[in-house]
Amino acid sequence: MLGTQPDHPYPAAAPGRLLKIRGGAALHGSVRISGAKNAALKALAASILTPEEVVLNNVPMIADVLSMADLLRALGAQVEVDAEHERVTVRAEQISRTDAPPDLFKATRASVVVAGPMLARHGEISFALPGGDQIGRRPIDMHLRGFERMGTQVHRDEHGVHAKVLALQGARIYMDYPSHTGTETLMMAATRATGRTLIMNASAEPEIVWLGNLLNRMGARISGLGTPFLTIWGVERLRGVSEIVIPDRLEAATFAIAAVMTGGEVTIDSVIEEHLVPVTEKLGEVGAEVWFQDRRMLVRARGPLRPTDLQTLPYPGFPTDSQSAFVPLLTQAGGLSTVHERVYEDRLRYTKELVKMGADIRVQAFGDHDEILATAAEVHGPTRLHGARVKSLDIRSAVSVVLAGLVAEGETEVTDVFHIDRGYAELVPKLAALGADLEDTGQPAGS
Ligand code: EPU
Repeated sequence: MLGTQPDHPYPAAAPGRLLKIRGGAALHGSVRISGAKNAALKALAASILTPEEVVLNNVPMIADVLSMADLLRALGAQVEVDAEHERVTVRAEQISRTDAPPDLFKATRASVVVAGPMLARHGEISFALPGGDQIGRRPIDMHLRGFERMGTQVHRDEHGVHAKVLALQGARIYMDYPSHTGTETLMMAATRATGRTLIMNASAEPEIVWLGNLLNRMGARISGLGTPFLTIWGVERLRGVSEIVIPDRLEAATFAIAAVMTGGEVTIDSVIEEHLVPVTEKLGEVGAEVWFQDRRMLVRARGPLRPTDLQTLPYPGFPTDSQSAFVPLLTQAGGLSTVHERVYEDRLRYTKELVKMGADIRVQAFGDHDEILATAAEVHGPTRLHGARVKSLDIRSAVSVVLAGLVAEGETEVTDVFHIDRGYAELVPKLAALGADLEDTGQPAGS
């Protein structure tokens, strides 16, 4: 049955919930990687481009997916979440409203991607502005400018955005920065615009290439995927599709880093080598051994880790989402490592939590008190980390403190665990199966 009512409660911030980790165990064994959050969420948004059924398999059962499902339901789509089979089915025969409920819209950043399909399908959307978070300001000016160039009237005030199509037409759009969600939302709007749209300086992240191919299977005409120049010819209608979500390269990177920093050996199942190269190259530099075979990778580390320098950049640069996982590893490498965060101006804030655990990390912020423009860090290692009570600030920084906890002496207590629920499917049981000693006090044993 396709439902219009949410069938899952929101995993909220449960007071007192902690993730307790007792460090010291090297990880061994194999782990299966789930579908990519940042691909599945966009495919869900794409499903409202058509009144026909869209079936997505290998969808990670995480809180952000459930909130996206609820947002689509609120807009009128019927959505069935089959958690057991990791499948989500959407049928958007009707779009019944164009004002996105603010609570649902703000629940995940990926909601901004719904705007493009809504304009293409229904010609209108109002939404509350997604808030800034603890990684930077994250404006959406490029998305909105692109919509305007395609013939949409955009009104923006302190309450949010109202966008209404006058005549959706192809346009030449140059993006000042290759925004990931900006490229996705504009690409989806363009699938049903009249004529040709050119998106220049488009993002080439693997999730966008996959989304573009999915849209083409639905009848869109997109070329140039994986390059900075996308060409989209508008079509009259899009049809239903059934698809398998690509594996989550960020989750795979997390387990690879965990294997290396604990001195273990882990086989990571369901990976795409090309998507992981920016991370595995750096793992090689610190002294890890990595082998790929088919869709699996084996990662291990023997002997002391070496320092390295990294800078985050759009794909195929080192992913900003893996930066916060790599920094705890660098605390275990002998010598000075440097980290330049070049995607989000304030995404090193979480390092304060690692410092509470004994890490020697010195962050330099550029800009003034009112506005940070960029940050970089020096990481001195190796340091003996010790357990402490530390806070998750967002999805990726939550994983950073968990990784640090795996090598810390004593017990680490992680608060605001709901951030992990938002982005990682079964992180705690997967780590436990590899030998980590950890427990989630919010999840009764055996659940
Ligand atoms: N930017 C602007 N103006 C815009 C759009 C972006 O100045 O109109 C700036 C941002 O402030 C940021 C930079 O451009 O400094 C990159 O932002 P981008 O738009 O590429 O990021 P995003 O689309 O908001 C997605 C992922 C992020 C991931 C980045 C980079 C989703 C839902 N989110 O965000 O994932 O870090 O691309 O790859 O796809 C996560 O999964 O934890 C996460 C934060």
